[in-house]
Amino acid sequence: MLSVLLRLGMMNKADRYERMYHQLMRLMSTSESVLSRMASICAVLHHKMPSFFWTGFYLLEHGELHVGVYQGPLACMVLEKGKGVCWEGIRRAEPVVVPDVDRFPGHIACDSRSRSEIVVPLFNQHGVTMGVLDIDSKELNNFDQTDAEYLTKIVALIYQ
Ligand code: SME
Repeated sequence: MLSVLLRLGMMNKADRYERMYHQLMRLMSTSESVLSRMASICAVLHHKMPSFFWTGFYLLEHGELHVGVYQGPLACMVLEKGKGVCWEGIRRAEPVVVPDVDRFPGHIACDSRSRSEIVVPLFNQHGVTMGVLDIDSKELNNFDQTDAEYLTKIVALIYQ
């Protein structure tokens, strides 16, 4: 029954995230490597959510945001400081949902096909900001509060 629903695309977003979260929880218990955990999160999210066009991490290194593991087309290596959605996620220390990237002042377009975006900040076990999870979609309005809540829970698995 479940596989039929999945094939028909009839599972809602929260149900999909529930399944991915439990799959990821099991995966995380098999490795404490931050890199392996990030790579597995990218792979699961990107391949289970058809509307995700670019899925990856930008990590803080010496005060700059450098691209980490990702799935999708080639992206910017370093993001101009203080500009764009990823830096806004660092500044706010909470998720940023962008329904239309053309309406976000300073948005950095690594790929002109991206139309909407979500950024979720990443904290280590001491509460220090490590970077962000960044996801782009080719569809306008692809992300909402459900994405923000589940992605926050998912990235919290990395440093636990
Ligand atoms: N759009 C991001 C840059 C990274 S790409 O989306 C992969 C930003 O404005 O920070």
